[in-house]
Amino acid sequence: MSFKRILVTSALPYANGPIHLGHLAGAYLPADLFCRYQRLKKSDVVFVCGSDEMGVAIMVRARKEGVTPQDIVDRYHPQIKAAFERFGMSFDIYSRTTTSVHAATSQEFFRTLAEKDVFTMKTEKQLYDPEAGIFLADRFVVGTCPTCKNENAYGDQCEKCGSTLSPMELLNPRSTLSEATPQLRESTHWFLPLGDFQPQLEKWVATHPEWKPNVLGQIKSWLQEGLRERAITRDVPWGVPVPEDVAATKGVDAKGKVIYVWFDAPIGYISATKEWAIREGKPDAWKDYWQDEETRLVHFIGKDNIVFHCLMFPAMLMAHGGYVLPENVPANEFLNIEGDKLSTSRNWAVWLHEYLEDFDPDLLRYALATMLPETKDADFNWAEFQTRVNSELADVLGNFVNRTMTFAERFSNGKVPELVRPNDIDKYVLKELSKFPERIGSAYDRYKNREAVFETMALARMGNKYFNDSEPWHSRKTDLQQCANTIHISLQICASLAVLMEPLLPGSAQKLREMLNMDSVVSSMPGGSKEGITWDDAGSPLLSAGHKLGQSSILFSKIEDDVMEAQKAKLGTKPSTMQSTAPTGVEGQEMEELVHPPVKDTITYDDFAKLDFRMGTVTHAEAVPKSKKLLKLQIDLGFEKRQILAGAAEHFKPEEMIGHRVAIVANLAPRQMMGMESQGMVLMAEGRDGTLSIMQSTGEDGATIR
Ligand code: MF3
Ligand code: ZN
Repeated sequence: MSFKRILVTSALPYANGPIHLGHLAGAYLPADLFCRYQRLKKSDVVFVCGSDEMGVAIMVRARKEGVTPQDIVDRYHPQIKAAFERFGMSFDIYSRTTTSVHAATSQEFFRTLAEKDVFTMKTEKQLYDPEAGIFLADRFVVGTCPTCKNENAYGDQCEKCGSTLSPMELLNPRSTLSEATPQLRESTHWFLPLGDFQPQLEKWVATHPEWKPNVLGQIKSWLQEGLRERAITRDVPWGVPVPEDVAATKGVDAKGKVIYVWFDAPIGYISATKEWAIREGKPDAWKDYWQDEETRLVHFIGKDNIVFHCLMFPAMLMAHGGYVLPENVPANEFLNIEGDKLSTSRNWAVWLHEYLEDFDPDLLRYALATMLPETKDADFNWAEFQTRVNSELADVLGNFVNRTMTFAERFSNGKVPELVRPNDIDKYVLKELSKFPERIGSAYDRYKNREAVFETMALARMGNKYFNDSEPWHSRKTDLQQCANTIHISLQICASLAVLMEPLLPGSAQKLREMLNMDSVVSSMPGGSKEGITWDDAGSPLLSAGHKLGQSSILFSKIEDDVMEAQKAKLGTKPSTMQSTAPTGVEGQEMEELVHPPVKDTITYDDFAKLDFRMGTVTHAEAVPKSKKLLKLQIDLGFEKRQILAGAAEHFKPEEMIGHRVAIVANLAPRQMMGMESQGMVLMAEGRDGTLSIMQSTGEDGATIR
């Protein structure tokens, strides 16, 4: 099947936190490489994305901060958009799901499916928090256990006696969100009966044996289990409203009902394409990309989104009719950081906006592309980042360009010398050069980015080897024409690189083209020039003899060890104000972490009076070798000094602790930890996301606290 046009999507990131490397490695960098390559090939490609701004996770986050969901998305959407832009993401449009076009598009989609009688409906009794205006999941309800009378049993289980519960069985139930007493309410919901689509989906998936094994594997296991219906409406005050006319036909009040975020979000791809078309001044053009069979639709996502993109959204598209289905969904696996699972709540993540404060985006594009989790989870670590930059970008690519430019400046007057009577090696290298556009391109086309990166660097390696073997520093004394030939061919390789490295290293490619004073190249950005040198042209010599070169400069500088150490030190430290839901599609996953632990059993005043709290000042602080968590503190209580081991190393640097006023438990029995004695405990407030802050007071050292 040959295609006339390509539509590319990257998963819409939730607008409740900034972008990190896990996001980039999953859905964004691979898509950008693909699109930039396609534009250089002069393919008709449109690349859409936007912020996913609905969903309960955003609502819960807003509640937690005491702001509105709109405030949350208005804060993060522009941040995410700006960071993507600086990283070089070449979206044709970066939209958001709070636009009116999106609301209308999702409602229209919902309406069509309702009219076709695709949905099933169910009415159930559920606990409702009248203050938060939300139906409560089991974990959000606590109350007294009917068996053991524990006052803090969860809606699904009592942790004291172990009995399994349902929220309705609790005595005195209360909402953990607002403390309000939940009410039992009936609610009617729309369901998408995915099971009905299973035969159709199976047939369709069978036509794609070429999909990545990790993707097919997940699809098969979902199909094997049998697809079940999924509720696609929710009773929450944030989301795309269920259309009133549709609800009315079922005798249901649409008030307070919204479309489930995993129903509206993928429709966001369609809405974004519509907005793009409107902006381009051809409002109907979106239809070509969604409703014409000759469109190649590709979804770039992380592995946690596979079921939604390979089964649920396709089922929705089938149910609606008239839409193309994805030609491929090249999902990536997860990216670990320094050998550990990425976690936003522990700040075990590299944030894009922070990276961009310190380094050039090209370095990350390159290094990350070599480490992409294409077939299995992969690890990003700063040591490897440094090696990729120093021994590949600087030592191979940068060095080759630099040597070539230096020789051209010194021995050929800053011009491209003529190629006369090339020898066998010269001819061989030119012939090899001609194969690279196809070789690198076919890797991009098959979504094998690591292979494409490897082949791009192979061209620079070939250049370096050719330069070495040809020894122009000898030939310039013995055979001037041979020296000129070497410079000529090396310059041609540089010029081809300046095109073929464009998807990977757009900034450096531009710089190299300026150094070579090259004719313009077809733009890899949307809206850029469609005229000029193309990808395929890069297989032939691009510079003519006598062409005047530009000014040479250093393409890549090396990174020192201490710079990498500083980056590593950031991991897991800062109290993270920037946690997001990570690249996860599991709605509600974050909500569990946000629940306050229930209050402990009541104690008497006498119990309390036994505790002796005192004020003190931290005089020394140091890390404990081999311990990630512990800090060794010396604390002056005025009347005596204490050594306390505090589990705060993931949140505070030793130097941040020195001089800090702290409250301690002064009469706790000493404990041995890591072979040292800890003589007390420092009081700290622990947030629901695990962040720590120190209790403050101006009381003098030794002062008692009651
Ligand atoms: N926001 C989701 C996530 O981060 C992805 C949505 S992709 C879309 O996991 F298709 F629904 F848009
Ligand atoms: Zn119990």
